[in-house]
Amino acid sequence: MPDSAYVITGPTSGFGRRTALELAGHGTVVLVGRDAAKLDDVRGSIESGGGKAVSVVCDLSDLAGVRRAAAQIIELGLPIAGVLNNAGIFPNRPGANALGWDLAYATNHIGPFVFTEILAPHLEDGTQVVFVVSAVEDPDRKAATMSGFRGARYISAEASARGEWVPGGSKLPGADAYATSKQCNLATVLAFARETPRLRFNAIEPGFAPGTNLGRDANLFLRLLSKYVLSPLAPLIKYWTNPGTAARVITRVLTGESDATGVYYDEKGRPMRGSAQVHDPAFNARVVAETRALLKTVPARAK
Ligand SMILES: NC(=O)c1ccc[n+]([C@@H]2O[C@H](COP(=O)([O-])OP(=O)(O)OC[C@H]3O[C@@H](n4cnc5c(N)ncnc54)[C@H](OP(=O)(O)O)[C@@H]3O)[C@@H](O)[C@H]2O)c1
Repeated sequence: MPDSAYVITGPTSGFGRRTALELAGHGTVVLVGRDAAKLDDVRGSIESGGGKAVSVVCDLSDLAGVRRAAAQIIELGLPIAGVLNNAGIFPNRPGANALGWDLAYATNHIGPFVFTEILAPHLEDGTQVVFVVSAVEDPDRKAATMSGFRGARYISAEASARGEWVPGGSKLPGADAYATSKQCNLATVLAFARETPRLRFNAIEPGFAPGTNLGRDANLFLRLLSKYVLSPLAPLIKYWTNPGTAARVITRVLTGESDATGVYYDEKGRPMRGSAQVHDPAFNARVVAETRALLKTVPARAK
């Protein structure tokens, strides 16, 4: 449908940038990111290719900013056919947002959660809402444990906000916060799919891409190794990908006609299983209920 619109967070780098360019072939792209100049650059690329794009500045770690951005998108009145929650960070040392909440948890889970809850009532029946998640949430995923991950370490929403994870986790800096926040994304998808069957909520694990900016906190040697040595090897390695391939798979899921909801797709666009924990309906409902309860504790001036 040429008059459709697609909302994408984190379109300024990595998977998101390539996906935004792909989506321009399917309709207007609403670019949601924290850096106005970078958004303008992506918008320029889309427009010079004959596409249409709108920029919405939003720092997903800032609750008030998320609410303003969602309201701005609703105000645009575009025929939204899909929303892609793609933005994410993997910091290698703990940080905090303005509320003092763990930065990875706030950026990866809380921001997209609030963004989606505000947009959802305004979306037409059947609208596709996709979250880009990560298989590192699964403690039984061998490729992830071999890289040092120990799966998601969820205690509660309040504990996550404090940056506390189930003890005995990963020695890899930032891994427990990242894996837990990405598990919360997947739990949100599974619970929202049950709660709101008039929309489609799905998740995708795009594959491991060493060349994106996700590892921007790594030292220069690792970043150069990732970009120039590991990235070109990606097509040869199981579960690995590159932004171009991932963008095509993500776009296929986001623009697809399937009625499926609550599905977790792999890097080839095939249904996959996540951890036993995240698939437990009691667990994923608890993640959502605790997230909502945590959000109620935020003082009105910070909302
Ligand atoms: N790379 C992988 O191997 C891999 C594997 C599985 C899943 N993923 C997931 O894929 C998604 C995209 O990651 P990527 O690898 O493409 O990383 P990336 O190149 O670092 O891109 C991340 C995007 O998120 C944006 N972002 C970060 N913090 C933000 C904030 N506070 N507010 C708004 N936007 C923010 C970034 O904006 P700026 O340009 O302004 O920094 C950028 O556009 C993430 O959700 C990640 O968890 C990645």
